[in-house]
Amino acid sequence: MKRNLPLSRVYRLLEPGPVVLLTTSRNGRPNVMTLSWHTMMEFEPPLVGCIVSNRNYSFGLLKATQECVLNIPTADLAAKVVGCGNTSGRRTDKFKAFRLTPLPAACVAAPLVAQCYANLECRVIDTRLVAKYNFFILQVLKAWIDPSRQRAQTLHHQGRGNFMVAGRTMRLPSRAK
Ligand SMILES: Cc1cc2nc3c(=O)[nH]c(=O)nc-3n(C[C@H](O)[C@H](O)[C@H](O)COP(=O)(O)O)c2cc1C
Repeated sequence: MKRNLPLSRVYRLLEPGPVVLLTTSRNGRPNVMTLSWHTMMEFEPPLVGCIVSNRNYSFGLLKATQECVLNIPTADLAAKVVGCGNTSGRRTDKFKAFRLTPLPAACVAAPLVAQCYANLECRVIDTRLVAKYNFFILQVLKAWIDPSRQRAQTLHHQGRGNFMVAGRTMRLPSRAK
C-alpha cells in the first residue's frame, strides 16, 4: 500500500546532483551561496541550468556580471556549505565568516573556492527564463579538478537539513566513449 506524497516533497525524490557553492564577484567583492537546483543540459560545451532565487543577493550579482563559478564541495565541508546557504552576502563576508579561501579564476572575475575538489568557471549564455523562473543557463568555460580526490564524497540535498553523501560507485556497460 502506498500513501499520498505531498507535492511539496516531490523535489526530494528527484534529487539533483551534488550541492554546489556558487561564487560571484562585483567590484572586487566576492560572494558565495549554496545551490542544489541545477541540471546538466549539454555534454560539450557543457551547459548547466540553475535556479537562483531573486530573493538572494547572488541573483543580482549573477544578473549584472553574467558570470560565476560552480564549486563542488565534499562532505568534510558540510558545515560551511549549510552556513553559506543560511546567510546572505548582503551583510556578511561569507568567505571570512566560513573560512573559505578565494582563488583567482582563469576566465571569470568570480573566485574559485580552494577547499572544493572541483570548480567550474561559467558564463551566463541565456537569460530568457530568468524573469519567469529564475532559471539561468550557464556555459562552463573552464573546469578544474583535484586529481588526488577522484572518488569525491559529494553532498546531495534531500530537503529539510537532510543530505545524502555519495558513496559506492558501480561500473556498468555504456555506449559512451
Ligand atoms: C542545501 C541548500 C541548497 C540550496 N539551494 C538553493 C538553490 O538551488 N537556489 C537558490 O536560489 N537558493 C538555494 N539555497 C538558498 C541560498 O543558498 C540562500 O538563500 C543563501 O543565503 C543565498 O545567499 P546570498 O543572499 O548571499 O546570495 C540553498 C540553501 C541550502 C542550505
